[in-house]
Amino acid sequence: MSGSSTSPEESNTLWHGRFDSGPDEALLAFTVSLPFDKRLGPWDVRASMAHVNGLQAVGVLTEAESVAIVSALDQVGRELAEQSLVFVDTDEDVHTAIERRVTELEPTAGGKLHTGRSRNDQVTTAFRLWVKEALIEVAVLVEQLQLTLLRRIDEVGDAYLPGYTHLQRAQPVPLGHHLAAHAWALDRDVDRLLDCIARLDVSPLGAGALAGSSLPLNPEVAAGELGFASTFANSMDTTSDRDYVAETLFCLSLLGVHLSRMGEELVLWASQEFGFVSLDDRYATGSSMMPQKKNPDIAELIRGKAGRLIGNATGFLATLKGLPLSYNRDLQEDKEPLFDSVDQIRLGLIALGGMIETITFKTDAMASAADDPLTLATDLAEILVRGGLPFREAHAVVGALVRESLSTGKSLGDLAVAHGDFGPDISTLFEPGVALSRRASPGGAGFATLAPQLERLRQSMASLSERRRAFHPGESRQ
Ligand code: ARG
Repeated sequence: MSGSSTSPEESNTLWHGRFDSGPDEALLAFTVSLPFDKRLGPWDVRASMAHVNGLQAVGVLTEAESVAIVSALDQVGRELAEQSLVFVDTDEDVHTAIERRVTELEPTAGGKLHTGRSRNDQVTTAFRLWVKEALIEVAVLVEQLQLTLLRRIDEVGDAYLPGYTHLQRAQPVPLGHHLAAHAWALDRDVDRLLDCIARLDVSPLGAGALAGSSLPLNPEVAAGELGFASTFANSMDTTSDRDYVAETLFCLSLLGVHLSRMGEELVLWASQEFGFVSLDDRYATGSSMMPQKKNPDIAELIRGKAGRLIGNATGFLATLKGLPLSYNRDLQEDKEPLFDSVDQIRLGLIALGGMIETITFKTDAMASAADDPLTLATDLAEILVRGGLPFREAHAVVGALVRESLSTGKSLGDLAVAHGDFGPDISTLFEPGVALSRRASPGGAGFATLAPQLERLRQSMASLSERRRAFHPGESRQ
């Protein structure tokens, strides 16, 4: 079924010269990207200004023409910021809308804006700028979450809890060491986000539709003005390259997976069964029916959003799969998943940060769970190892004591004292926190090793944030 269409001249499309009729309404309804790519508007304005300056630098535009177009672009930029730019039906995307408006404001010079440029290089230039800024912002939010964790680590001092493997109590660990484990995963996330920025920091402007131009373009001029680190080497590659979108979606998915792991732990820890934390009222919800409930919805949603982030990444890879060179309209599908993943991760980082900032750690409950003598079985075996016994044999000796403890109900500590081979002072090992004072292997979960570990973390964070600041183009995203 076809709807109404207009004559080619009335249609206002960028391609009306070649066509006998304007586009069918159904075509526009399906192909339009304006509702979601409006966000690229400010970046398109900047990139268009740089393009115009580039054209003037090589003599394709006169100074008067370039001044006229840049001032029209400046006005469009203001209209976008004030949300006063009036869009029309044939504004297929924000790039079309900006050029149309510039031409309305400057009918003669405006018609030269698109010289030596295609939307194919134009769109991906604006999108790279947007993504670069967004990744910088996400990196800052991740750093802030790391700082929140560090503050809480300092505050909890020598608190300890059971460390788990297979969700079974394994060995006691300092709470600070446990929280720092999450901060280290976030450190790799920041590192990855910055790597991603470094690879996308290439200007595609000047690649045209796919083949460059017969005009004497100099892509370096616009690239320099836009703060890109370099320019493209191959026009076909750069107009079809969406690696940066796929990589960003992956980096945000993995970050989302790390946040979901924290979310899951908070859900468990807030349960009556664990009872390791209590949530601040501002970061918990109640039940509409059960008056006694206090639910960790934020932590659950953080866990749940990871599924959506992974979906955005895999969905977009499926879009890319099998596309021939170079630009294909499928590539327009790059924006919604990326905007969505960035929006969700930003909200998630802020919510989780607030939750961790305000949570109460019930360190008594943690300690009494960790004081379960069975969690010291490994340390006990290592005492025999210090005396020269091969670890396998020590494991079997302690294993037998564990079995006896479980079948008789006698504590492992008493059995170790009675055994005789562990030395006269063995009962001290079972005093609260002693095992953690004795554990000193580098990077291990001991009280003494926590400070140097945190020092190393702070150094890593400082060098990453220095790397991040070197990228900053100095303009904020809208
Ligand atoms: N809005 C489109 C996009 O984001 C513009 C591309 C138009 N190019 C074309 N050859 N039709 O990809």
